[in-house]
Amino acid sequence: MRITLRLVLSLIAGIVLVAIAFSFRQAQQEEVRLKNELERRAAILADSLRIAVEPLLFSETRPTLEMIVERFSNRERLVGIAIHNIQNNLVLASRGLQPRLQDNPNLIAQNIQEVELNNAEYSSYLGIDDEQLHAYSIPLLSSGVNSHVLTIFHNSVYIQDRVRRIWVNSFWRAFVQALLIALITFFLVYLNVMAPIKKTTEWIKKVRRGDPAEDFDPKGQLLLGPLAKEITRMANNLEEARLSAEEEARLRNTAESLWTPERLKEFVREKLEGRPLFVVSNREPYMHNKKGKEIECIVPASGLVTALEPILKACGGTWIAQGSGTADRETADKDAKLKVPPEEPQYVLKRIWIEKELDDGFYFGFSNEGLWPLCHIAHTRPIFRKNDWVAYKEVNQRFADAIVKELRDVAEPNVLIQDYHFALLPAMVKAERPDARVAIFWHIPWPNPESFSICPWQKEILQGMLGADIVGFHTQFHCNNFIESVDRFLESRIDYEHFTVYREGHTSWIKPFPISIAFNSGNGAAVPREETRSSLFKKYNFQAEYLGVGVDRLDYTKGIVERFRAVECFLDENPEYVGKFTFVELGAPSRTAIPKYQKFIDGVVGEAERINARLKTRNWQPIVLLMKHHSHAEILPFYKAADVCLVTSLHDGMNLVAKEFVAAKDDEQGTLILSQFTGASRELRDAFIVNPYDIEETAEAIKHALELPAAEQKERMKRLRSNLKSNNVYRWASRLVWELAQVRVEKS
Ligand code: G6P
Repeated sequence: MRITLRLVLSLIAGIVLVAIAFSFRQAQQEEVRLKNELERRAAILADSLRIAVEPLLFSETRPTLEMIVERFSNRERLVGIAIHNIQNNLVLASRGLQPRLQDNPNLIAQNIQEVELNNAEYSSYLGIDDEQLHAYSIPLLSSGVNSHVLTIFHNSVYIQDRVRRIWVNSFWRAFVQALLIALITFFLVYLNVMAPIKKTTEWIKKVRRGDPAEDFDPKGQLLLGPLAKEITRMANNLEEARLSAEEEARLRNTAESLWTPERLKEFVREKLEGRPLFVVSNREPYMHNKKGKEIECIVPASGLVTALEPILKACGGTWIAQGSGTADRETADKDAKLKVPPEEPQYVLKRIWIEKELDDGFYFGFSNEGLWPLCHIAHTRPIFRKNDWVAYKEVNQRFADAIVKELRDVAEPNVLIQDYHFALLPAMVKAERPDARVAIFWHIPWPNPESFSICPWQKEILQGMLGADIVGFHTQFHCNNFIESVDRFLESRIDYEHFTVYREGHTSWIKPFPISIAFNSGNGAAVPREETRSSLFKKYNFQAEYLGVGVDRLDYTKGIVERFRAVECFLDENPEYVGKFTFVELGAPSRTAIPKYQKFIDGVVGEAERINARLKTRNWQPIVLLMKHHSHAEILPFYKAADVCLVTSLHDGMNLVAKEFVAAKDDEQGTLILSQFTGASRELRDAFIVNPYDIEETAEAIKHALELPAAEQKERMKRLRSNLKSNNVYRWASRLVWELAQVRVEKS
């Protein structure tokens, strides 16, 4: 309130000052204008009189002279006319003026003196008997000699009156205008500053007290937007810390052990004795792209990124990845580094630049046309080209050199290498830095030795991976496949009891680490499902009574076509759901430079169109295919609104979409249909597990899921969530770090 009062008083003082300054200037200008006008009028009159008077001055025609003077004197505001000789003696004056001049003989002595001196006109303002006069004098000549002075007297009091009136009028006009501006300013300030401050303060108070506070929308806060955003973030952090402290206190009581970011941070610090973490992957966690004149920052669709980002956020460190965004170079510094996440930097992203031609062989070629189909049994034939393999080796070496450079000043560094793009990297890093603790985590399945045997460079790949101290997979099954492959193709000593491989004086531990998600971060406010649903219908322009959702990169391993056919089969078998059930597929285009992917996308679009054309009604369609990169914030409402989520991968290392769907379901409603060929199916036992190749089985699962009583949905979802809550990604990281810390390395 005091601020408001101060603001109002300052505004009033400001207004008065502005009004005074403005009126002063107006009055001054008007006074100058009126005086000039009077001067001009007097000059014209004096000139015309001179012509009439001069010839008569020295003749004996005084009555004529008097008559002329009298006649000219009869004008507006003219007080009179006088003729003096240059000795200041009055020669002649108009009637009204004569007595006053006789009483004040020196009234215009100054004028006469100046006229005589300069032989030019002279004017002055005089005061006489409370009257204000303007006296304008010019010389009168006889035979070229200045002998007399003609003076025109005007009443100038009207100038003062006018100036005074202008003062008053302008003052009020300026005052009213300034007052209006001030009121509008005050209103705007109140609306955009005071009210948001008040609202924010109330909201912070609620958050501090732990009262339920409605969602705060910083975007709505106009001028205070950036500040409100920061405060929101701070309040959210506070809230998270409070919840996590409460949770930990609760867990201490119940002797449970939940992994939180804070706990992981402490754990990592203790186990790694303060030595920093280096994470390496091909895909970067933040990609900057040019969008018209703007630069947009996106989080790429990648399970790897979803899982690792929370760990780096909690523990800090450096993430080394390929820079692949169109604006990546201009958003990084000269060392190709930047701090991320952009809105709250917590770790360093170091980008590695790979030329297009090399990347074509490394990324599209060997990684995604060779190893990807080799490891996923999805009936897509791998392609192995010599040139791709050469590029793969070269990029692995390029990364190895960059990593070694980064590790320069760090003793016994910890390096976590991610995925099939870098099978050769562990051995390359170890060769340069035997004191480094190195783990490689394979995010995709590992095939059986028969399948793996078709790879022409099987030995090199296994040797490269075994350079790591720890080789991690999602499931024990993949570990078994790997160790069998090693057994089949390499000379080594395998210890099946501890699952280790010993070769060339180095031991590698082969272990399962089922990856997960952060679970409780960023799931948004509890909005009723119906509300979320109707805003989605409005935004994406469709209608449905029952909603199914699928979220994938558009990849042939994801079983998207099979899923669409299952939806079609379900509707054929259960016509009562026609017009009621809609399946939304959020598909992110991926690796589109590869012909198999282009063909696959065409197939997905064609299948959706075929089914829609066959079954759609006037206001309804069975499949809504939204093909673009969707942010987490865009995906979340679909998870929340859906009755059922379909994850029907033909083969998948883990599949984090299944876990994200479960994490989003705070209302414990909804059902997950999950392929038996995903790593996730080993953990998420309360999902409906299906064989995605069996279209009828998946169709039946959809019906079953939609008709599952709410109480059973709740029970299943509760168990799924409780499992996920304890097996979150912080636990995954803690296990990996723990294993890494056990590794004995050569002292540097
Ligand atoms: C899988 C891989 C990741 C990869 C992601 C996205 O999840 O395991 O390593 O990042 O797919 O694929 P992309 O080729 O776009 O990185």
